Amino acid sequence: MTTDDQTRGYVAEEEYTSDYHHVYTPAFLDYVALLNSVQPPVREPGRFRFCDLGCGFGMTALTLAAANPQAEVHGIDFMPEHVELSNRMAAQAGLANAHFHALSFAQGLEKDLPMFDYIVAHGVYSWVTGDVRAEVVEFIRRFLAPGGIAYISYNTMPGHAQTAPVQKLVSHFGKKGEGDSSERVLKAFDFVQQLHAVNTRALRDKPVVDMLLHSVSREHPRYLAHEYLHSAWEPRYFIDVAAEMAKADLTYVGTATLFAADERFTVGPEHKALLDALPTRVEREFIKDYLLDANFRRDVYSRGARVLAPQERDAELGKRAFALRVNASAVNYICQVGLAEVGIESPAAHAIVNALAAGAKTVAEIMSAPAMAHVPFAIVYDMLLILAISEQITPVERTRGTATRFNAVVRANNYCSNALASPLGVGIELSLPEMMLATGATGGNLEEQVAWLLGEYARINKPVLDAERQTLVGDAATAWLRTITSAYLQRKHNALQTMGIVAP
Ligand SMILES: C[S@@+](CC[C@H](N)C(=O)[O-])C[C@H]1O[C@@H](n2cnc3c(N)ncnc32)[C@H](O)[C@@H]1O
Repeated sequence: MTTDDQTRGYVAEEEYTSDYHHVYTPAFLDYVALLNSVQPPVREPGRFRFCDLGCGFGMTALTLAAANPQAEVHGIDFMPEHVELSNRMAAQAGLANAHFHALSFAQGLEKDLPMFDYIVAHGVYSWVTGDVRAEVVEFIRRFLAPGGIAYISYNTMPGHAQTAPVQKLVSHFGKKGEGDSSERVLKAFDFVQQLHAVNTRALRDKPVVDMLLHSVSREHPRYLAHEYLHSAWEPRYFIDVAAEMAKADLTYVGTATLFAADERFTVGPEHKALLDALPTRVEREFIKDYLLDANFRRDVYSRGARVLAPQERDAELGKRAFALRVNASAVNYICQVGLAEVGIESPAAHAIVNALAAGAKTVAEIMSAPAMAHVPFAIVYDMLLILAISEQITPVERTRGTATRFNAVVRANNYCSNALASPLGVGIELSLPEMMLATGATGGNLEEQVAWLLGEYARINKPVLDAERQTLVGDAATAWLRTITSAYLQRKHNALQTMGIVAP
C-alpha cells in the first residue's frame, strides 16, 4: 500500500484499469511530430528508450517492450500492486528490456536512469497537486534526451468547466461511507444523479453534465475512482501547461488527438482571421481549445528538435511505415474525423489500401506502386491521415521479431490488457472477445467459435458484457458473441494475421 505522504491527495486504494494506449507509442508520436514538420528522435526502427510516468499496470510499456526487442522501456508508478503485475508479466514473457519501478515521481528523480527518447505521462497531470506536477516537469527536464519527445495528457479547460462541480460532489461524498473506492464512487454518482433529477440549478441545462451522468454506467468503476475521487483534480488550461513545459526546455509540437492535429478539420473560415492575428503558436492552440470546448488534451513537446523544411518533412514521412488495422475488404471510405464524416472513396485510396493489404509498407513503398504513378504526395498524405484518424491504419516501427510469447502471457493472465503486441513494434487495441479469438480460437465454423468463446469466458470466470457493460446470459450471451465473432472475422482477423498477431 502507498503511504498518504506519497499519494498527496491521489486516491490509490484500488488498482487502476489495465490499458494499452497507442497514442503515446513512439511510432505514433513520431508521426505527430512529422505532421507538425518537427524532426522525431533520430533512431533505428524499433530502437528507442521510453519511460512511462504513472504507468499503471504498465500495459503500454510491456507491449512496447515485447513488440520492440531492441528498445529499453521503463515504467514508474508508486502503487506497488501495479508494478508487481508489470514485473511478473515481464518475467513470464522473458522481457529483459522492460524495467518497472515502484517509486513516486519524487523518488524517481533520485534514481540512476538513462536519458530517454520518449517520456510520457498519461492520465496523471491534472489528477495530482501542483507539487507533483512540478516533479513530472523536473523529471522530463532531467531525463529527456536532446531531440527527445515528451507526451502529456490532461483534463482541459474550458471543456471541463461544467463538470468541475460534479467532480467536487463526487470526490467529497465518495471519500465518506462504507465500501472500497469503486463502491463509494458509484454511490457518490448516484447522489449526483438524484440531485440532477430534482432540477438542481447548478447541474441543469448543461449538456456536458448530462453526457457525463449518462456515461457513468458504461465506465469501469475503478477508472471512475481514479478519475473523480482525487482532491487534487484540476483541469488545466493549455497555456499554463505550455508555460510549465517551457521550464523543462520543451517546445510545443502538436496534439496526439489526431483529428485536431490538422486545422482543416477544426478551424472554420470564420475563426481563421481571429487565430491568424494571434502572435504565438501557443496562444493559437489555447484559443482553439475554446473553439472546440476541449476537455482533454494529448500534448506532444520536443526538446530542441529541428523544424523540417517541407521537402525534408516529406522525405522523412516517406521512410515511415503504416499497417492496416482492419481487413482491406472492411475499410470504410467514409471516415469519422472528429464529429464529421469525410469521404475518401477514390482510386488513390483503394491503391493505398491494396498496397497495405499485403503487409506494412513505408510511404515511399506505397508511392512506388504502379497504381500510384500520377498521385501527388499531398493526396497520399491526406488519405493516410484520414485513415489514421479513423483508426483504420496505424504507424508502425517495422522491427523484426515475434510477440507471440507476450500475447500468450496476456491470455494466461486472463486477458489483463486491452491490446496484443505485433512484431511491427506496436500494439493493437481489441475488445475482450476479440482478444480471445485472436490468441486462443482454433478456427472452425461460427457456432464452434462462439461455443469456444463461451468456454473461454467460463475459464476466466468473467461475465459476458455487452457494449453498455450489461451482463448477458444464456441465449442473449450466445447471440451477442455470434455478432462479435462475425464482425471480428469480417473486419479484423486478416489484418491481425498480416500484423503477425494471429498465427497464419
Ligand atoms: C490514472 S492512472 C493512469 C495509468 C496509465 N498511465 C494509463 O493511462 O492507463 C495514474 C497512475 O499514476 C500513478 N501516480 C499518481 N501519482 C503518482 C506519483 N506522485 N508518483 C508515481 N505514480 C503516481 C497512479 O498510481 C496511477 O497508476
